[in-house]
Amino acid sequence: MAKKVLVMATNNSHKLKELREIVDGEVEILSLQDINFHDDIPETCDTLEGNALQKARWIKDRYGYDCLADDTGLMVDALNGAPGVYSARYAGEGHDSAANTRKLLANLEGADSRRAHFSTYIALLIDNDCHIFEGRVDGEISLQPTGEGGFGYDPVFVPDEGGGKSFAEMSGEDKNLISHRGRAVRKLVEFLHTLDR
Ligand code: IMP
Repeated sequence: MAKKVLVMATNNSHKLKELREIVDGEVEILSLQDINFHDDIPETCDTLEGNALQKARWIKDRYGYDCLADDTGLMVDALNGAPGVYSARYAGEGHDSAANTRKLLANLEGADSRRAHFSTYIALLIDNDCHIFEGRVDGEISLQPTGEGGFGYDPVFVPDEGGGKSFAEMSGEDKNLISHRGRAVRKLVEFLHTLDR
């Protein structure tokens, strides 16, 4: 059976790298640069699932490739689920992770609970069908950033299953084993296997 080829509809090189590591060569993942797309993709829905679908659809409609996109949010209990679907723009337009993280820590000052979770929704458009895969990881927001790895909110997210380390203190491999994106991508890969039967 020929290897499947999927475009990942993201301009986030970290997401692309994680996806490629998790699928581990089982699927060929093309980037937007690989198909010569160099614009931003609109992300205007008010749900993670809706945004994932919107991004995948944007590329599928223009290029015809089977395509996937992920949308991820960090939901913090003490902030009633914020930043949630607005995680990328929490401190304003510009996708500035350091500013987002500073705002999060400021808003949590004095909070009783620092419980939070990441959720990822992946939309897969393959042939003429659409499939959604979800992954979640629970943990705590730390008092200050630690670690140099990962991206986004990783330096302040300490997953329950990570031995007290933030995602940014873990190797990519260890993060992928327990992360929201790792879980969602593994469901996607299992699904792709069922198509080969
Ligand atoms: P989006 O899915 O690209 O909209 O990402 C939403 C926000 O969450 C952005 O600020 C990302 O940097 C952040 N984010 C997405 N995935 C992760 C992750 O795995 N770790 C930490 N932050 C993430």
